[in-house]
Amino acid sequence: MKIAVAGTGYVGLVAGVCFAEKGYDVTCVDVDEKKVEMMRQGISPIYEDGLEELMQKNNERGTLHYTTDYKAAYKDADAIFIGVGTPEMPDGSADLSYIATVSRQIAETIEKDCLVVVKSTVPVGTNDKVEQFIKDFLVHDVKVEVASNPEFLAQGTAVHDTLHAARIIIGTESAQAEALLKKIYEPFKLPIVSVKRRSAEMIKYACNDFLALKISYMNDIANLCELVGADITDVAQGMCYDERIGSRFLNAGIGFGGSCFPKDTKALKFLAKEHGYQLRTVEACVAVNTDQKTRLFEKAKDRMISFKGLKVAVLGLTFKAGTDDLREAPSIDNIKCLLASGADIYAYDPKGTDRAKQIFPEGKLDKGSITYVSSCEEALSGANICFVFTEWKEMKELTPAVFKEKMHTPLVYDGRNLYAPEEMKQTGVEYYSIGR
Ligand code: UDX
Repeated sequence: MKIAVAGTGYVGLVAGVCFAEKGYDVTCVDVDEKKVEMMRQGISPIYEDGLEELMQKNNERGTLHYTTDYKAAYKDADAIFIGVGTPEMPDGSADLSYIATVSRQIAETIEKDCLVVVKSTVPVGTNDKVEQFIKDFLVHDVKVEVASNPEFLAQGTAVHDTLHAARIIIGTESAQAEALLKKIYEPFKLPIVSVKRRSAEMIKYACNDFLALKISYMNDIANLCELVGADITDVAQGMCYDERIGSRFLNAGIGFGGSCFPKDTKALKFLAKEHGYQLRTVEACVAVNTDQKTRLFEKAKDRMISFKGLKVAVLGLTFKAGTDDLREAPSIDNIKCLLASGADIYAYDPKGTDRAKQIFPEGKLDKGSITYVSSCEEALSGANICFVFTEWKEMKELTPAVFKEKMHTPLVYDGRNLYAPEEMKQTGVEYYSIGR
């Protein structure tokens, strides 16, 4: 079976590599020649645990190929997986232009019957349109069907999440498409939930938005905890034993970021509005998250007269640990506020610095400045105030004594609740966190 994959981001590349790992002949297609050349050499354009090892292994055994020549990849493929991005438009809707481009290329290229599988997160009804679009532009007399197969991997654990997914969702409109997709996933030996296309598309949004809601709910409760003298970590601990609630996604903090939750909450809100429905739960989730992101900065602003000329240590830039991705990272909103207030920032992140430099080039910026350093200690040295934005291992392992010894004034604003408030207090560190 020949598989082609369109797009080599988190969704496309990881899917392609995992299909190759399961023995399929896979060609990954991307428009970027430089990226393709890198991947041929076994270098991953994204940082993901275990990905390069699998790329190198399958490159060597000849099951994994990369190309910019989509015609060669698509023309005789049995299945083409679409994993291109669906970024957020200014109005909150999903930008489907990459999906449209790939659909048109597929239509004009395929020379044999083919199943097109949409892995990208797309608004409900998009798969119907993709199928019609491809049929409208078909050049050769072949049979083509479109199936939905949403992706649930989380960044940082993408390979593991794909090979050990809790379930595979397939959305099809015909028995043949269903059978072929089930066959493709057979070697993964995972539970398969087979539904209609529109339901499959909705499952993806319903899952992501539910998890986002769970986080916003905990952040909302955390803010209330601060007002009434309760501790959100104790509250979460008490909640998680209830199997109906579960133990994951109960961490209050500086709000969710990343490439999915912010985009998918807005997209579902938009989809509902388009259909004349107001999705009030998701709207509330988005509003809570927007405020939550800069809550720490607001707290610090209340405490200080000014940030002008202050040395501010920033620990963590990525939207979560285990990735080099800064998309929608709460650190960005906070750094913007700090720079506008004249702060001199010393930032450390084990993986995200290169990407951060593209957003905030090193040197003078706005009314302040930013310098990137290579350890937590270096950032903390002589600092007047510290913000923790990401829960990297290096940050978790810091002891109260390090803040006390390294900083000029030990004043810490922790967006990830990494340290014990009592211990910080006993060591002489003025410490603020979320919901405690
Ligand atoms: C998410 C979904 O988990 C995944 O299923 C989907 O396919 C894509 O979106 P990802 O964005 O990689 O994955 O990261 P995730 O680990 O879910 O975290 C998202 C955001 O929520 C991060 O900013 C994280 O810090 C935050 N978060 C997560 C919390 O604030 N509290 C939590 O308890 C969990």
